[in-house]
Amino acid sequence: MTRWLNYYLNCSKSALYSLQINRYFVYLWILNHHRYTFIKGDICDRELIKGIEFDAILNFAAESHVDRSILDAQPFLQTNIIGTYNLLEVARQKQCVFLHVSTDEVYGSTEEDFFNENSPLMPNSPYAASKASSDLMVRSYIETHRLKAMITRCSNNYGPYQFPEKLIPLVILNALNKKPIPVYGDGMNVRDWIYVIDHCRAVDAVFHKGAPGEVYNIGARNEMPNIEIIKLILRKVAEILNLDEAGMMDLITFVEDRKGHDRRYAIDPAKIEQQPGWKPEMDFEEGITQTIEWYIANKQWWERIISGEYVQYYNNQYGKRLEN
Ligand code: DAU
Repeated sequence: MTRWLNYYLNCSKSALYSLQINRYFVYLWILNHHRYTFIKGDICDRELIKGIEFDAILNFAAESHVDRSILDAQPFLQTNIIGTYNLLEVARQKQCVFLHVSTDEVYGSTEEDFFNENSPLMPNSPYAASKASSDLMVRSYIETHRLKAMITRCSNNYGPYQFPEKLIPLVILNALNKKPIPVYGDGMNVRDWIYVIDHCRAVDAVFHKGAPGEVYNIGARNEMPNIEIIKLILRKVAEILNLDEAGMMDLITFVEDRKGHDRRYAIDPAKIEQQPGWKPEMDFEEGITQTIEWYIANKQWWERIISGEYVQYYNNQYGKRLEN
């Protein structure tokens, strides 16, 4: 979300509002105004949102981490479902464009096929179920209220500023701190990884050139099992910092699997590639190298994060798993 803001302010003359709930954002887009205003608020606070003038809503706001939704689903229902409903209500009243940023996880897991925009919604985690619910709310406002809304469903993002609860930053930071790297199950679960700026470009393309009422899948045709990514990161960290590669590989620790762990996500991005016309640009190995270099250069940013509430979360999530 922060990446989208930076991307957008660099390449457009439009202005933005953002609203924050804890660490999540929604952007309210406004033409011909000063460029960016930050409002500290909650997307569940409808009166606050109603009082702001804007031309469009891009809803990036979400509780997004599967493991946290397994520990406690309530915040996911509140932000992802009730929050989206509030934004939809305001969008309906103002008759403004609404872009809902969703996820490929709403389709569930697939062993062989690719998800297209008509694949059934089969969410498996409380997080995915909350996002699928919000997608269905958006659909209902399109059908019932003729809201000019679009939905994007993207695969796994990586890049700078990603919160270290997600796999790639977690592996980088644990490697830098020489801590065990928890690999769920057999490490052969597959995700389709996309560089965050490619995702930003896709959202921008849909926002400006997408058709109201449509869903767009966003993926980079870059499927990879977790263990391969982990080994690639460890090799790169060793190379960049001139460390012993075998010592890095020793950090890999197989732990008890995530409950209901989806085996494979695989996006068919043919629709967005054709219309509005978008393709990812970042090569995966190059993107991973740049991301590692960013985390090495921005210790201050992540040190603050991994010393706060994160410590408690980390111990809850990994303490027992890593002992066994
Ligand atoms: O597919 C898009 C989704 O990608 C987004 O909608 C979610 O918000 C985002 O969190 C992400 O979901 P995943 O569950 O796929 O991402 P995560 O980084 O949590 O995990 C990626 C894979 O790595 C998954 O198979 C679980 C595994 N994993 C993850 C962590 C945090 C491990 O093996 N060990 C770990 O410690």
